Amino acid sequence: MTDSAPILVTHDGPIATVTVNRPDALNALNRETLLGLRDAIGALRKRANLGCVIVTGAGDKAFVAGADIAAMSSMSREDALAFAELGQSTFALLEGLPVPVIAAVNGFALGGGCELALACDFIYASSHAKFGQPEVKLGILPGFGGTQRLSRRVGLGLARELIYTGKMLGPEEALRVGLVNAVHPHAELMAKTLEAAKAILAAGPRAVAAAKQVMNAGADLPLTSAIAKEAEAFSRCFEAPEQREGMGAFLAKRAAKFEGR
Ligand code: CAA
Repeated sequence: MTDSAPILVTHDGPIATVTVNRPDALNALNRETLLGLRDAIGALRKRANLGCVIVTGAGDKAFVAGADIAAMSSMSREDALAFAELGQSTFALLEGLPVPVIAAVNGFALGGGCELALACDFIYASSHAKFGQPEVKLGILPGFGGTQRLSRRVGLGLARELIYTGKMLGPEEALRVGLVNAVHPHAELMAKTLEAAKAILAAGPRAVAAAKQVMNAGADLPLTSAIAKEAEAFSRCFEAPEQREGMGAFLAKRAAKFEGR
């Protein structure tokens, strides 16, 4: 990995930070960048002791300003299908990582950039962030999952309005509608995101992974089937050392020390 690679990954103990690194093009996603992201996620999956992943964009201006418009401008229908499938499968891999993934949105998160943030477990935004799905202004529609994930995050009515008009939301409005969990001063975004990651790391890693798995698996199921999965996963915790350590530590009035942390 060189500093000019389109995807950079750094590690701080169990926290990995994945940076989309094409600042001259506002980190727009072309095929090479998506392949780099896919490879980076594959490498993270194999990493022992991974606890949390942060996704962000290089530079001061953009998280990701979308799929690369120059690259898309000459695509055939077949090319466009392959490109959408590459973006969708890459984002699905990110969403399926067994540890929480936090988007630290440090600027424009438009089109494929908003879709990338939506594939993360939750989003922290800087005071400079701007969100939107402007694809219809280019004569296309979102192709990396936005037509489905945006409505699941903010509700169908608002998702329809954002996708049909292409209008942008600033950070405070994104917070008000539940697209982002918190807005932080631009210069503090990474520190605040690391704080959240460290709070996750203080919890039982297997419990967090199981919660993520059940929440993802249940999202597309009827409530009765989804909560059956929850009961199953809840009960499995009682065969694991984490539950004994967590509850034992609470009762002994000491901090829990979880295996692998
Ligand atoms: N693709 C390719 N290049 C892009 C880009 C993108 N999505 N967004 C920005 N860039 C490039 C610009 O072309 C420009 O390059 P040059 O310096 O070589 O001219 C550079 O990044 C800086 O951008 P601007 O000069 O436009 O910066 P600005 O501050 O004036 O505007 C902006 C910022 C409002 C984000 C504007 O760049 C913009 O509107 N970008 C496009 C946003 C967009 O439409 N995204 C959706 C793409 S479609 C998609 O994502 C489909 C999908 O779902 C899969």
